[in-house]
Amino acid sequence: MSRADERVGLLDLQPTPARILADVVQGLSASPRQLPSKYFYDARGSALFERITRQPEYYLTATELALLDARMDDIAAAVGAGAHVVEYGSGSGRKTERLLEGLDDAVAYTPVEISLSALQHSVARLGALFPAIEMLPVCADFTGAVALPAPSRPPSRTLLFFPGSTLGNFTAPQSVALLRGMRAALGADGRALIGLDLDKDPRRLEAAYNDAAGVTAEFTLNLLARLNREIGSDFDLDGYAHRAVYARERMRIETSLVSLRAQTVRVGGRAFAFAPGEAMAVEISQKYTRDSAAGLAAEAGLALRAWWTDPRGDFALALLAPV
Ligand code: TRP
Repeated sequence: MSRADERVGLLDLQPTPARILADVVQGLSASPRQLPSKYFYDARGSALFERITRQPEYYLTATELALLDARMDDIAAAVGAGAHVVEYGSGSGRKTERLLEGLDDAVAYTPVEISLSALQHSVARLGALFPAIEMLPVCADFTGAVALPAPSRPPSRTLLFFPGSTLGNFTAPQSVALLRGMRAALGADGRALIGLDLDKDPRRLEAAYNDAAGVTAEFTLNLLARLNREIGSDFDLDGYAHRAVYARERMRIETSLVSLRAQTVRVGGRAFAFAPGEAMAVEISQKYTRDSAAGLAAEAGLALRAWWTDPRGDFALALLAPV
């Protein structure tokens, strides 16, 4: 379904309640149960995520911002002048601001973001900061096929910006599919700049996803509140607990909501019984090495053109190009 929002001139392809319900019923019917993490990002979820990125344990955002600043000249040189910047899952646009500032004469910016409120805020802010850059926002789930709008000034190339280690929130086959889709959207001469969190001490990883202030727990539980409101499920928010564990053998954080007792949830006319301790998988956060990232890219027909990391080796920015 497509609704044009006249006020901000954005293309609104937000998931409908029927789509969300179908995804949730499918996830709850699976074994082990799971809930789709893209639905974390309603207005409250996006605001909570923004708070996660400012927690002291959550080193990812601060590290990536510092890395962008430190390497901006190299990035700008590799991308060249006149790019159309496309961003998947743009969130608040704090990193985008650095990129649009640092690149040489970007012609247009297309954020593709599932949260309408986050999209409106970031486009209003970035549009005011960069009056010479055409804002072409798309409110959509970037895991589907996204037809990119054409800038009125012809761009030299497309730069797809995918920061935040969001690629890690997908399974390996999904990541390859996503990268293949990017490759198609990029054209032969495009580039992708992807932020990836690197494998490290499990204690630091687990601390990042279990912040002491409990913001991440609030964020994951907000998913249940959103579903109750939007698809009429009756999850008891006090009946589930947030859990995030680093699975070393799979090199990923696995986040789940654990049922604290035996309970039954009703969704879309169906009942789902939970045993005490039964977990719903809600998110994975894959961690990478240079080799694992290059391997994934290669499967999607992309090659590593550059690999920049912070001095501690916590996080990487990978520049990819079609082979
Ligand atoms: N891309 C982020 C990450 O994997 C998303 C994220 C951070 C997240 N903290 C979370 C997702 C907690 C779910 C739960 O780090």
